[in-house]
Amino acid sequence: MARIVVVGSINMDVVTTVGRRPEPGETVNGEGFSLVPGGKGSNQAIAARQAGGEVDFVGAVGDDMFATALREVLSDAGVGVSRLREVRGASGVAAIVVDGGGENSIIVVGGANSTMTELEAADLDAIAAADVLMCQLEIPERTVLAAARHARAHGTTVLLNPSPVRELSPELWAEIDVAVVNEGESEQLESELAAVPHVIVTLGAAGAKYRSPHGSTLSHPGVRVEVVDTTGAGDTFTGALAAQWHRGPEVALAWACTAGALATTKLGASASIPRQIEIEQLLSDNLELS
Ligand code: RIB
Repeated sequence: MARIVVVGSINMDVVTTVGRRPEPGETVNGEGFSLVPGGKGSNQAIAARQAGGEVDFVGAVGDDMFATALREVLSDAGVGVSRLREVRGASGVAAIVVDGGGENSIIVVGGANSTMTELEAADLDAIAAADVLMCQLEIPERTVLAAARHARAHGTTVLLNPSPVRELSPELWAEIDVAVVNEGESEQLESELAAVPHVIVTLGAAGAKYRSPHGSTLSHPGVRVEVVDTTGAGDTFTGALAAQWHRGPEVALAWACTAGALATTKLGASASIPRQIEIEQLLSDNLELS
């Protein structure tokens, strides 16, 4: 079982569903509203756990009404929360609109995630003892860099999902072993990704492709499902990939594509992350069909 440490974000997702998004200045009637724990770091941690990893989460929640639910979503999934701090102020929040086609748009307000400016000694010990460090970009970049440097120095594989995408320092790129990006991010980061040893590009319904350190490539086709909401599907893909990375890119890609597809069949981020048994069932159904 791979030992994974996630240094990342956790948010309360405020989700509204609507047939059609409003134009600027327009008001439309929504169809539904829900509060679902999310955040790229937390989603990826849960997905890695549910795809067979042993996972610890390093992050922060506020001291507000969302803190308990955010902590519980991780601990209920079996993710270690001893490195989750509670800080004064608001937890991270994401305002999400999901339209009739299952597509989303998201505004993230960092809250407690923005206070993650330092790593503590016990965080660093956990990173050093892990097989994989998994990070995203919803906490300050300096913390991602400190975590990545420490991981590299201790032989822990550094996996970065550079999302929400932005320009990063060359020092950080130099520490990355594995990058997981979507098509838009891969175009935007083309020159930076050229120097990353392992690059995985998610292709939505068309699956994903992988490029090795030697330039060889591998793809996995899309897994057919009925799409309800794509929120968190990329996070589920990334978490499952991290959990199965030790089995090689081909197996990891198959797990990631299957888990990511299953995540689109339900509303909400953490609420839609499939369990190991569901991933294994769909993987074996698809093997029988091929
Ligand atoms: O990737 C989906 C996630 O992005 C949501 O859960 C939301 O919290 C934002 O971080």
